[in-house]
Amino acid sequence: MLVGNSDGIGLATTKRLLAAGWDIIGVSKSESPIANTAYLHRVADVSDAAYPDLMDELVRQGPLDLCIYCAGIGELLDPLQMGDEARIIDVNLTGMVRTAAAVIPGMVKRGHGHFIGVSSMADELLSAEAPSYSASKAGFSNYLGGLALALKPRGVFVTNVRFGFVDTKMAKSDAKPFMMSVEKAVDHLESCIRTKPACYTAPWIAIPLVKLLKLTLKLKAGA
Ligand SMILES: NC(=O)c1ccc[n+]([C@@H]2O[C@H](COP(=O)([O-])OP(=O)(O)OC[C@H]3O[C@@H](n4cnc5c(N)ncnc54)[C@H](OP(=O)(O)O)[C@@H]3O)[C@@H](O)[C@H]2O)c1
Repeated sequence: MLVGNSDGIGLATTKRLLAAGWDIIGVSKSESPIANTAYLHRVADVSDAAYPDLMDELVRQGPLDLCIYCAGIGELLDPLQMGDEARIIDVNLTGMVRTAAAVIPGMVKRGHGHFIGVSSMADELLSAEAPSYSASKAGFSNYLGGLALALKPRGVFVTNVRFGFVDTKMAKSDAKPFMMSVEKAVDHLESCIRTKPACYTAPWIAIPLVKLLKLTLKLKAGA
């Protein structure tokens, strides 16, 4: 199953996995451009009250080996119009937790399964431009780290994928150092499916830059 896969990283991953022979259910806010007999698409908003019921229905259709949560949104902060701030946390973080709550109990019962969440290297940064996005990813990464610890002894793997910039409509800032192509991001996800690490950060070359930025921002904030 892939959630948030009508575009960007989720769409490219769906195409790659279908080509590799997977049967896939996709759930996304928009219709999918994919037409394939091994693919079923359902249109849903992860923040909708009916989303958990839809997930329960889909989970009942058969055992899931893998769930990848790619749904995400990000908007720049407008301090005079903060109405969308909570929605960003709802879609990015709460939507992922609701998805995990629907798919993981079945995996635990079978002692088999893999949950992958696409987070961001922004999870460790204070962001004046998009505080709701970085806060959602901080919560996202922390939650999946704890879940990985809890579930590994039960035979279920959880992977938190921390990407730098990826060339999709989501990458909005003016400067996008070390931005990778969507296909490269899918290469990394395929590697995570094979090796099932608890945490995976890419591209590694951006790591020192993020650490330096983190320190600079903390000093600037007086934190
Ligand atoms: N691109 C980057 O630079 C980057 C870097 C680090 C991490 N990430 C993370 O990677 C993930 C995928 O992002 P992307 O770059 O592939 O962005 P994208 O191209 O905008 O794709 C996001 C996908 O999520 C769907 N979606 C958004 N809101 C949803 C909702 N409420 N319910 C269901 N589906 C929803 C979108 O559908 P619609 O198109 O219909 O809205 C789209 O299919 C996100 O979590 C993002 O934070 C991205």
